[in-house]
Amino acid sequence: MTDNKTPNAAASGTFTIGGDLTVNRLGFGAMRITGPGIWGDPKNPDEARRVLRRAIELGVNFIDTADSYGPEVSENLIAETLRPYPSDLVIATKGGLTRQGPDIWKPVGRPEYLQQCVEMSLRRLKVDKIDLYQLHRIDPRVPVEETLGVLKEMQQAGKIRHIGLSEVSVAEIEHTKGIVDVVSVQNLYNLANRKSEDVLNYCEKNNLGFIPWFPVAAGDLARPGGPLDQAAQRHDATVAQLALAWLLRRSPVMLPIPGTSSVAHLEENVAAAGVQLADDEFAALTQLAS
Ligand SMILES: NC(=O)c1ccc[n+]([C@@H]2O[C@H](COP(=O)([O-])OP(=O)(O)OC[C@H]3O[C@@H](n4cnc5c(N)ncnc54)[C@H](OP(=O)(O)O)[C@@H]3O)[C@@H](O)[C@H]2O)c1
Repeated sequence: MTDNKTPNAAASGTFTIGGDLTVNRLGFGAMRITGPGIWGDPKNPDEARRVLRRAIELGVNFIDTADSYGPEVSENLIAETLRPYPSDLVIATKGGLTRQGPDIWKPVGRPEYLQQCVEMSLRRLKVDKIDLYQLHRIDPRVPVEETLGVLKEMQQAGKIRHIGLSEVSVAEIEHTKGIVDVVSVQNLYNLANRKSEDVLNYCEKNNLGFIPWFPVAAGDLARPGGPLDQAAQRHDATVAQLALAWLLRRSPVMLPIPGTSSVAHLEENVAAAGVQLADDEFAALTQLAS
């Protein structure tokens, strides 16, 4: 049941990933439904399951995860909680980062490892085909032709629908041309950290989905009484909501995936889909951040 007061991710508009997967632009990042340091089980597994179920109720149909979140914990929780999956749900996962303990992330791009990653994600998510498989990091020790080559083979075998990249430069995206068709890029990007501005512009020009991670952060701009806080008060909203509303307004290819372990924060974040920034507000915030 929906009413005018219940937030819905549909208010963020849609984007079609890879030409055939249409999602509401405001999605959910499933990294925070794990333990401290993104290691092990969440402190409150019941709340983590409630977050996932509530996300679907609120119109979220794009969920981002990775084999390394937990590791395995996030993908397992998604399958256990959300199956049978809604027909319009798009699950994006990633592989290529290994874990040796809390907060430790090391890239391994050897083809036989990536092949195992895909097979294991298929098994954990309990799907026949992964909607969007993202190379979590390029391993500088392995030619990217080899790493992406095996993903292409998995795609040709029907195990992956689309391929995306994470933490890459424009030159690295360009380099993949002729190896695979890349449909999305996931880089660190938020109001306060705009180092990937050129990558975002490239994605917009080439109609690739741009998935900004750490989207809720706004750094010093979010201080009480600061510009974001003042704008938030005008909208009767929170600074987190303003940060998300700014992202959604910034580009039609923007697919923010705020992550949280709490239903209250999830509801707040989804409600950001309905916050409309006036032209002058958007311009002022953009100017401040740059
Ligand atoms: N590709 C990559 O390398 C990469 C790296 C990092 C993340 N990611 C992906 O990006 C997603 C988002 O990134 P992220 O989780 O680092 O950043 P985020 O979504 O910007 O922020 C998450 C943090 O903010 C808190 N939070 C969330 N909503 C809030 C709200 N409304 N008010 C106050 N605090 C709030 C969360 O704590 P609570 O749990 O207490 O709400 C959590 O500590 C991840 O879930 C993951 O899917 C990708």
